[in-house]
Amino acid sequence: MSTSVFSRPLARVEAFQARLEIQLPILLAPMAGACPPSLSIAVANAGGLGACGALYMNPNSILAWADEFRRQCQGEFQMNLWIPDPPAIRNAEAEDRQRDFLSAWGPAVTEEMGEAVLPDFEAQCQTLLAVRPKVISSIMGLYESAFISEMKARGILWFATATTVEEARAAEAAGADAIVAQGMEAGGHRGAFHAEDAERQMVGLIALLPQVVDTVSVPVIAAGGISDGRAIAAALILGASAVQIGTGFLRCPEAQLHPGYAERLSHTYGHQTRITRAFTGRSGRSISTRYVEAAASPGAPAPAPFPIQRGFTRPMRDDAVLHGDVERMKMWAGQAAHFAQPQPAQILTQQLWEDASQYLF
Ligand SMILES: Cc1cc2nc3c(=O)[nH]c(=O)nc-3n(C[C@H](O)[C@H](O)[C@H](O)COP(=O)(O)O)c2cc1C
Repeated sequence: MSTSVFSRPLARVEAFQARLEIQLPILLAPMAGACPPSLSIAVANAGGLGACGALYMNPNSILAWADEFRRQCQGEFQMNLWIPDPPAIRNAEAEDRQRDFLSAWGPAVTEEMGEAVLPDFEAQCQTLLAVRPKVISSIMGLYESAFISEMKARGILWFATATTVEEARAAEAAGADAIVAQGMEAGGHRGAFHAEDAERQMVGLIALLPQVVDTVSVPVIAAGGISDGRAIAAALILGASAVQIGTGFLRCPEAQLHPGYAERLSHTYGHQTRITRAFTGRSGRSISTRYVEAAASPGAPAPAPFPIQRGFTRPMRDDAVLHGDVERMKMWAGQAAHFAQPQPAQILTQQLWEDASQYLF
């Protein structure tokens, strides 16, 4: 092992850590609905960066999240929003077929359930500025230039998620301070800027990461299928300045996941996950449950667009949680779910870095 090969990634990593005022290059992934303050506090206490996926949160919940974090932790965190898609095009006939299909999987789905309303994006953005986290991140597109200027004026860094080289290039041109390169292994929604590209442009992290690193001059954060020390080391060697881990933290007690979901993660191999629009209408990687498979079978009706489909699946999802039925629950998972450990997140974060260090030093 030549020291020069391995000293280069570490200098880059250390420079990025210093900028974020963190001690380890491990970032908790923002996960809407699955990142309570307790998980971020534990990761940040270990020296990593906490994360709040604020998509479904109204301003008061966002403020309460930040308050809870800051009362219990001196560390730093990022707050994350989805850039809204253009308004969904409704199709009454297709929606009827979808509602009929879903009614066989849970309580009856009424037409009004498609009127799913998300919190006001502008109000969320203003709240994020008021909270002034170390980082604001984006997925599914780019913030408007006025908001980017507001972030910069307050000294907030902007991390933009990209799933292709083209998206990374656009994000850097718009002023992103770092790119989160999200490989197609990633759990949860794919961050493609245009919904229709999400399943057409599926690039794995080991190919995407060095291509993005070679394209942009800002730091690159690797995300997707990273759940153990070997993968962390590999990502840093491929040019990442840090890694962002989602699924790998979901079995930690602080994630407060449904026990059935947490247990299923432990015996989910990569091929037992798949990209589906069946839960929300936006493509995301989920465990291949009976519902996910049925929704992908020939003859199954196409899901409605986001967020209509999310509204339509709510009765089934709530019923599944009530009855502990993992075959109908929404269980996002990346391809490396198998490595997720049921350890306290602070210990797990430290352990991950210790393991990665064996390959780096
Ligand atoms: C349950 C869950 C929810 C997620 N929600 C968001 C989100 O709200 N915003 C976002 O940028 N990414 C979201 N993601 C994607 C993660 O930020 C990250 O890209 C992904 O978890 C990395 O892949 P991994 O799960 O294999 O570690 C979510 C992922 C999961 C598993």
